[in-house]
Amino acid sequence: MAALKYSGMDDTDSEDELPPGWEERSTTDGWVYYANHEEMKTQWEHPKTGKKKRCAGALLYGWEQETDDKGQILYVDHINKRSTFFDPRQAFTVEDLQVKPKRYDGNSTALEVLHARDLSDRVVLVTGANSGIGFETARSFALHGAHVILACRNQSRASKAASLIMEEWRKARVEAMPLDLASLRSVREFAEIFKARKLPLHILVCNAAVCTQPWNLTEDGLETTFQICHLGHFYLVQLLQDVLRHSAPARVVVVSSESHRFTDLVGSCGKVELSLLSPPQKEYWSMLAYNRAKLCNILFSNELHRRMSPHGVTCNALHPGNMMYTSIHRSWWLMTLLFTFARPFTKSMKVRMFIRVNHFTGSWKVIHLVILS
Ligand SMILES: NC(=O)c1ccc[n+]([C@@H]2O[C@H](COP(=O)([O-])OP(=O)(O)OC[C@H]3O[C@@H](n4cnc5c(N)ncnc54)[C@H](OP(=O)(O)O)[C@@H]3O)[C@@H](O)[C@H]2O)c1
Repeated sequence: MAALKYSGMDDTDSEDELPPGWEERSTTDGWVYYANHEEMKTQWEHPKTGKKKRCAGALLYGWEQETDDKGQILYVDHINKRSTFFDPRQAFTVEDLQVKPKRYDGNSTALEVLHARDLSDRVVLVTGANSGIGFETARSFALHGAHVILACRNQSRASKAASLIMEEWRKARVEAMPLDLASLRSVREFAEIFKARKLPLHILVCNAAVCTQPWNLTEDGLETTFQICHLGHFYLVQLLQDVLRHSAPARVVVVSSESHRFTDLVGSCGKVELSLLSPPQKEYWSMLAYNRAKLCNILFSNELHRRMSPHGVTCNALHPGNMMYTSIHRSWWLMTLLFTFARPFTKSMKVRMFIRVNHFTGSWKVIHLVILS
């Protein structure tokens, strides 16, 4: 009110009454705007209330909007043979209750973010959906009507996760399908079964990961962290890209990590060295392997976006937040200890932040906060 006082606008009785020098007008399509004759400016908001208004209905029967010789709009009442410069629709205006795009913060939940979204015509696939971030992501989509496929390596854990969601909403359309990202054969089989079902695919969330695993080779002869976190997903997207294209608009979301910053793919000779991706045991450090895989996630996501977005398939990578207490730490006691100490200060599974990487600069950019309840 102080601002109104200083601008001399607080001395009228009615809240809706316009201050001196202002006039209420309307556009042809019925939006009300305000003209200030002293400052020669117009604005959509009422100068006192700050509210936006629009005319409640069309012109009454017999009335017509016309333009005179000077280009001024006037309203003609053909029945009573009279005209006026005042838009008769302005006698009946309503407040414009258009919902403004909501901003999310650390207290918003995923269900709030998806609030009122009807995803019942969407098919969503989430890898590693039986626990942690993947589970909450799948749950939030399912509770908004999407047909959600939990692509997991362990069928009993996956079925349990699906049942938990169904317990919450018995109409939820969730199902589990076996997918072991540590096996290219399994990824291929998964894609074949999925394609045979002739389902569309609107959202593919590449979420599954392992961290701080001891060195191990997969059946394909590649280091496990690299294959699960990156290569398995890379292969899955390749195999499903035609389905994604046919389902456009579609999107791929790659769950990466801020920790991608603490590494690169450049070897001692100063050039990109692909052998760093699947190192031998003596050159292996689990955290570095995870960071490199997460860097691959971002490079992959950016390139995929470049290639697929012209076909209506967008791709974003995200950082979900630091040290959230999921089961990601379970392979190493030191990690579990760190996560336990950090737990009171970090986001819980109730608080989740989704961040996108700028496709061109590689810098992090918050697009929205998706906080999962
Ligand atoms: N938590 C954090 O603070 C944090 C921070 C940054 C980034 N992230 C990222 O967030 C994503 C989700 O992690 P989270 O924290 O939710 O961890 P999580 O609870 O351990 O979830 C990881 C999921 O990946 C699945 N998975 C592991 N190996 C797999 C395989 N070979 N094939 C298929 N699925 C496999 C796991 O299944 P099983 O249960 O069968 O092992 C589990 O469902 C990961 O990409 C992670 O890098 C997490």
